[in-house]
Amino acid sequence: MQTPVDPTKTEAWHKLSALHDAFVPDLRGAFDADPQRAEKYSFTAAELFVDLSKNLIDGAVLKALVDLADEVGVPAHRDAMFAGERINVTENRSVLHTALRRPKGDVLEVDGVNVVEQVHEVLDAMYAFADRVRSGEWVGVTGKKITTVINIGIGGSDLGPVMVYEALKPYVEPGLEARFISNIDPTDVAETTKGVDPETALFIVASKTFTTLETLTNARMAREWLLDALTESGAIDGSEAQRADAVSKHFVAVSTALDKVEAFGIDPANAFGFWNWVGGRYSVDSAVGLPLVITLGPDNFQNLLEGFHAMDEHFATAPSAQNVPLLMGMLNIWYVNFFKATSHAVLPYSQYLHRFAAYLQQLTMESNGKGVRLDGSPVVTETGEVFWGEPGTNGQHAFYQLIHQGTQLIPCDFIAVANPAHPLKDGDADVHELFLANFFAQTKALAFGKTADEVRAEGTAEEIVPARVFVGNRPTTSIMAPALTPSVVGQLIALYEHITFVQGSVWGIDSFDQWGVELGKQLALQIAPAVAGDAAALEAQDGSTKSLVGYYLAHRV
Ligand code: F6P
Repeated sequence: MQTPVDPTKTEAWHKLSALHDAFVPDLRGAFDADPQRAEKYSFTAAELFVDLSKNLIDGAVLKALVDLADEVGVPAHRDAMFAGERINVTENRSVLHTALRRPKGDVLEVDGVNVVEQVHEVLDAMYAFADRVRSGEWVGVTGKKITTVINIGIGGSDLGPVMVYEALKPYVEPGLEARFISNIDPTDVAETTKGVDPETALFIVASKTFTTLETLTNARMAREWLLDALTESGAIDGSEAQRADAVSKHFVAVSTALDKVEAFGIDPANAFGFWNWVGGRYSVDSAVGLPLVITLGPDNFQNLLEGFHAMDEHFATAPSAQNVPLLMGMLNIWYVNFFKATSHAVLPYSQYLHRFAAYLQQLTMESNGKGVRLDGSPVVTETGEVFWGEPGTNGQHAFYQLIHQGTQLIPCDFIAVANPAHPLKDGDADVHELFLANFFAQTKALAFGKTADEVRAEGTAEEIVPARVFVGNRPTTSIMAPALTPSVVGQLIALYEHITFVQGSVWGIDSFDQWGVELGKQLALQIAPAVAGDAAALEAQDGSTKSLVGYYLAHRV
């Protein structure tokens, strides 16, 4: 296996260490000294305007970060990813989510196959299927048009579609809705199917592997729910033939394992495939996006893909010093490895992006939560910060206190759009403008703070002055776009995919495997018999597990 460059042994790392040791954060001073600072550190990527000027950087730091990316080979690693090399070494796979959004007619041969052609074959099939559902040509077992699409999946087979569905709600076709079941907690199936008419429901079982316990369990429960309800209402007579007919009209699947789909009882003609070179957390733009294609329509999904592609093009071709994903990824390296930041907040000033942080948590943390490098040796630096966030302004009234005045350095990304989906007014006041004023105010407060003298000048009693001082120099990146269109959502997702990639490249880790989730899955299967009351299985557990399962067994009614 290839031995990655040790970033800490590079010239640029040494330079960054020295710069960090001498660095005195002073954003007020930096802006006063350089009236061009905002312009100098603002960049454009596709339609995104990205202002890095309120980060703890100067020209020397930014140059050293770009040099570090070069020295560890980020651009070469990026090119290898785009070319389809097997950079996912622990699974011996190519990493080609970028091929999912390449335009029709492009050619990218991997192992002698033009993968772009394969991608478009599936997209065309998805679009044709979605058109049938949307037009009412595809009907349920009683001839009724589909109105509710229920996606059953978890992790990458859930978070991407949920997040984008929520983000693009204004684009949802009237008369259609999507719902999402992910958790094996039976509450999820029970609550999500509440109020749904089985005759107008279409279930999409989405699982890359089609082995995931949660998804298959939920799919079986949903199938029973559907068949029981249809039988009870007399819509079907409950015979095997009618049950199979109902399943074929109300269940479709998305997977890389089409043989397993068939074994589950879903007609392979109603299954949409993808490939093992698409990581689960990178799959919303594959067939996993089927609930989006149906509810938003093929044109909007196509625009989403075009947004992804525009950001890919930027990442693949922009010079490093203007390459936004590269710069943002390297800034994260600066904060994690030099300032020892352990978390990163993403704060969208858009209620429609209320699941964006949850989505990013899988993308970033499943990718970069790694302790060994590509050659199996231990990592040489901190990796994988915690990503988290909530939409503004809600977060302002909850956790921003800690970001403003706590003792931890938490770099934040603020995201906003110029044009709202709903230009509502409060009397004469444009509410979106009020919302944006908060967006602008927060990064200003975090950067420039408030001095003791400024607090005193407001007439504050001396003993409370310290509590009301804001030290400032809290780093933020502001990202703005014209509006939250499908294309912009695609651009934002691809931006964070590539930021994640850049960080993983510097750390020399495999950002595309996720072995860390396996142990818990295996143990759950081992423990399940004990929970069901098998005394020998219970006896084989450790003391704490025995005690906890014992509590359950004693208290279940
Ligand atoms: O267990 C983690 C994981 O493999 C994720 O990487 C993935 O997105 C999720 O489970 C769901 O997997 P699948 O799509 O194969 O059901």
